[in-house]
Amino acid sequence: MFVLNGVWDTILLKRNHHKIIFLRSLKTRIFLILLIVGLIPCISMRYAILQNYEQRAVDVRTTDVTTQLRILANHLITYHYLQDTSSEVINAEINQLSSLYDGRVMIINSDLRIVKDTYGISENKTIISEEVIRCIKGESDSKYDKDNGYIEMTIPITETVSFGDNPDTAERKERVRGVMLVSASTDSIRITMDILSRKALIVEMIVILAILIVSVLAAKALIKPFEKITEALNQAQEGYTDTPISVTDCLETEHIGDAFNRVLGRMKVLDDSRQEFVSNVSHELKTPITSMKVLADSLISQKDVPIEVYQEFMEDITKEVEREDKIITDLLSLVKMDRTAADLNIAEVDINILVELIMRRLRPIAQKRDVELVYESLRPVTAAVDEVKMTLVLSNLVENAVKYNKEHGWVKVTLDADHQFFTVVVADSGIGIPKESIDHIYERFYRVDKSRSREIGGTGLGLAITRSAILMHRGSIRVESVEGEGTTFTVRIPLSYIPV
Ligand SMILES: Nc1ncnc2c1ncn2[C@@H]1O[C@H](COP(=O)(O)OP(=O)(O)O)[C@@H](O)[C@H]1O
Ligand SMILES: [Mg+2]
Repeated sequence: MFVLNGVWDTILLKRNHHKIIFLRSLKTRIFLILLIVGLIPCISMRYAILQNYEQRAVDVRTTDVTTQLRILANHLITYHYLQDTSSEVINAEINQLSSLYDGRVMIINSDLRIVKDTYGISENKTIISEEVIRCIKGESDSKYDKDNGYIEMTIPITETVSFGDNPDTAERKERVRGVMLVSASTDSIRITMDILSRKALIVEMIVILAILIVSVLAAKALIKPFEKITEALNQAQEGYTDTPISVTDCLETEHIGDAFNRVLGRMKVLDDSRQEFVSNVSHELKTPITSMKVLADSLISQKDVPIEVYQEFMEDITKEVEREDKIITDLLSLVKMDRTAADLNIAEVDINILVELIMRRLRPIAQKRDVELVYESLRPVTAAVDEVKMTLVLSNLVENAVKYNKEHGWVKVTLDADHQFFTVVVADSGIGIPKESIDHIYERFYRVDKSRSREIGGTGLGLAITRSAILMHRGSIRVESVEGEGTTFTVRIPLSYIPV
């Protein structure tokens, strides 16, 4: 039993799955909607028309027969047929009526005895049925038996009786003397109905076929622009062409095309910048190696080189090795920054202590260049940050401020906070950044003065790393600079880390 249940479940699941896939196609949905919208009026109209016709035909037939019977009833009274059924005229009239309506006529007197039956089987029998008894009381009735195809009617046979001697003042009353029980066949109605219904069915089939064809064509036509755009997208993806795609068949596909072109544009920018980065990296990594090779080659090619020259060249080679090492270290830091924010190692950090530590580490370099390092803390600050990355941010800024400074210059670091952010301002009295370079300083490997940066051991990656780390903390960095006068970097970081 369990096994069977399992099998059944799987079949059901599979079926549902197929159903869902089937209905997920927009084409199918449009087709089905059009089909249903077309079929409902078509089918309901046929049904309503046929019903209406049948009702009317039965009504007409009923009034028709009733009129005839009322005339007959008068004749029955006139010829005293209820007392004596021998009248040839009346019998002929009754038979004519029953054959005209392809039915049966029974004449019943007030004692509920059947005096005449056109079928001849029930004569002289007594009939006790609800309708007949009701009819004796003066109520006529008609009933349509659809399944057996006839209308059954009861009509009272009434006689007008006058009371009083004077015919002018006499009171007249209707007296029920008997009942006519008649069943009239509705075969002719049914035959007409059948013909009508068959014709309607043929028309309906044609209409359904037409709706079907229209639905398929309409669904196809409506979907066509989407198929076109899918094709265009596939082509764009396969060929990775730069030509923008455009399907102007309808507004929706135009929008999809535009959105895709924007994505493509962004992808291209990303691709370009990646390529530029790779070529920059290769170039930067190659430069120290080329220098080393030149130094080593010149040592090898000379004979009897004095030991001092050897020493000097080896020192230069060591410097190049250190440089290579610095570039690789910076590149690794940058790659780490490119990862998701999930890699952040957030902890509560005393920012005052952090800044002091960085200043102490950079003081020897500042002293060597005769640059004064000043630190001003406006209040104690603790914030939820990644300590390693925040150290990178601040030391890069302070190091730049020291390195791109003048003789006897100064660097001032100020720490402040409000209830949401802490702010570190690194101001210097250095060489400043030219206006046209300001927008580029955060780019990887960008340096205003390549030879100067190289001289002081820069890689052009410092500010790129700084900016990435700040963005990971959902902070901001701003720079103001006047060439020849100095530069001020302002960093703002939220006190508590906001995860996405
Ligand atoms: N405080 C500053 N004063 C003047 N120029 C600066 C300062 N900070 C950065 N720059 C300029 O921005 C460039 C990029 O800085 P950075 O990314 O740290 O690279 P680098 O390795 O050259 O220091 C530097 O080469 C320098 O030209
Ligand atoms: Mg730097």
